[in-house]
Amino acid sequence: MPIPVTAKMRIGWDADHVNAVEVARILEDCGMQAIAVHGRTRAQGYTGLADWDVIGQVADAVKIPVIGNGDIASGLDVEVRRAQTNVKGIMIGRAAMANPWVFKETKHYLATGTHASHASVEERFNFMRRHCKLAIERNVRMEEQQTMRSMRNRLMNYTKSIPGGKWLRQHFSQIGSVMQLEDIFASYLDHQATHSHEHADLPVQAA
Ligand SMILES: Cc1cc2nc3c(=O)[nH]c(=O)nc-3n(C[C@H](O)[C@H](O)[C@H](O)COP(=O)(O)O)c2cc1C
Repeated sequence: MPIPVTAKMRIGWDADHVNAVEVARILEDCGMQAIAVHGRTRAQGYTGLADWDVIGQVADAVKIPVIGNGDIASGLDVEVRRAQTNVKGIMIGRAAMANPWVFKETKHYLATGTHASHASVEERFNFMRRHCKLAIERNVRMEEQQTMRSMRNRLMNYTKSIPGGKWLRQHFSQIGSVMQLEDIFASYLDHQATHSHEHADLPVQAA
């Protein structure tokens, strides 16, 4: 049975060598079924903005579906880029690492034109808990402490846009166990319950 093969690429090596259209045509000739294009050059790394003009040029240059990628964080972003280009799909990267609900939110926006309410703190905590437990279950050769250390950045990422996010990040930066995670959640919720009228970040406390 033939297996569909797709490709993903950046728009070129550097600003002087943007060759995405040429490369996309070669990929199409090779029989690629679809191409995803991240609108930055290799030299850019993650700096600057994704160049959606070039992504649009690629989408116009080939017949196979082109999936646009770079700096998409909401349904509104998807709507704007779909209106500006002929991409057949959109890929979301880093935004999903901070907000895994971005796909659900985007779907809601595209279906209704209204913004879905963001994931609640409880939902986020449940998600973090689950992610940590799955990581521990999976990393059978690692101690819990080692796995939880490797989760620090992931956890910190999930706190963006939560009130008191700075306080949570400070505590997650030291975390070494699921028990500590539960303590941090409990302190946070206690504090939120008594200071729910305040929007300032929580003070640093020992977790
Ligand atoms: C942690 C991380 C890992 C990634 N790994 C890959 C990879 O293995 N292959 C790939 O083609 N792109 C990889 N990327 C790039 C993303 O797929 C995407 O092209 C890039 O982040 C731009 O999209 P964004 O602005 O939505 O993040 C990775 C990005 C991040 C942040």
